[in-house]
Amino acid sequence: MAREFNMLKEIREQALIIKDIINKRVDFKTGCAVFDEFDHGKIRILKNVQRIIFLGCGTSYHAALYGNYVFEELTGLNCECELADEFTKREAVIESGTAVVLISQSGETGDALKAARLAREKEAFIIGLTNEINSSLSKYADICIYTEAGEEIAVAATKTFTSQVMLLGLLAVYFDSLNRKPPVLSQPAVFELKGLSEKIAAVLGSEEEIKIIADKYASEKGFVILGENYNYPIALEGALKFKETAYVHAEGLAAGEFLHGPLAIVDTDFPVIFLAPIDPAYEDNVKIMKEIKRAGGKILAVTTAGNHKLDDLADDVVRVPSALDIFVPILSIIPLQFLAYGIAVGKGLEIDKPRNLSKYVN
Ligand code: M6R
Repeated sequence: MAREFNMLKEIREQALIIKDIINKRVDFKTGCAVFDEFDHGKIRILKNVQRIIFLGCGTSYHAALYGNYVFEELTGLNCECELADEFTKREAVIESGTAVVLISQSGETGDALKAARLAREKEAFIIGLTNEINSSLSKYADICIYTEAGEEIAVAATKTFTSQVMLLGLLAVYFDSLNRKPPVLSQPAVFELKGLSEKIAAVLGSEEEIKIIADKYASEKGFVILGENYNYPIALEGALKFKETAYVHAEGLAAGEFLHGPLAIVDTDFPVIFLAPIDPAYEDNVKIMKEIKRAGGKILAVTTAGNHKLDDLADDVVRVPSALDIFVPILSIIPLQFLAYGIAVGKGLEIDKPRNLSKYVN
């Protein structure tokens, strides 16, 4: 029997962890998102927030980008996202009414803490999102929200990433509710959240199917991973999993951007992984897939269950259950985690402790 690493165990834990987060953070009777961390004083501050900056490094940066997108859509607030280290290396403007959401699984990443210090100096309201209760980030932040994903042993973040994404989605719902009466989740969102962990379990059920695909792609020298909108951070995160777990070069790109130069890299059999759920970007994505096929490339599409329209266009298709656009990333990242893991297993790598890396960089 093949050795199973912690990374695989942690990927498999995701359905349960997300279920626990939803059960703790959603009041299904009222439709409210619940964040008891914010008392009356803090709620008053939140109500005056005009601008939110999302910061993180590595995987946490990808979650931050998701946070930027979901907050913009649900709250209409002015949002932006930046790599924590870049934020500290330029004269970032922070005016009053700015909140900084700092994301760090470990809560100890040096660049993230430097960013927290800078944000504090500039009097931003800091919301920390971390998995570590006694971390330095929890001390710097005005309010800390814990992902409660349990200890993550593998260097490659998996379950802490999906927990970050889930909590950012719920926090956006919470922020939005602060200025509305009664503060409720939309009915489709409530309905969706009730069944989300079963949907994750369904994707986890495709582990064997994805392992076969991973074996097929195991000797590729490089990959491009494409996604649009909420799947763009997932393309970036998937590419990072491929690099750090399987030591294979992978580049995550916004699908539309692929036509502005990177398409030239495609020649016979060049593998492109395309995150193409049925969503408003789908038809544009199909056009891009046709360009990739015209250039001779090979496509592994990740699309919505029931969609068989890509069967002739893509070389391989993985399907994930349909979900509201804002929750699709929690599903679409899982095939990429499995693929990275499967390719690494095929290479006989020491998956939990990739060469040259440690769990966090301080
Ligand atoms: O602990 P942090 O979330 O602050 O760590 C940031 C990055 O170092 C981390 O996400 C790194 O990219 C992981 N190895 C990703 O799997």
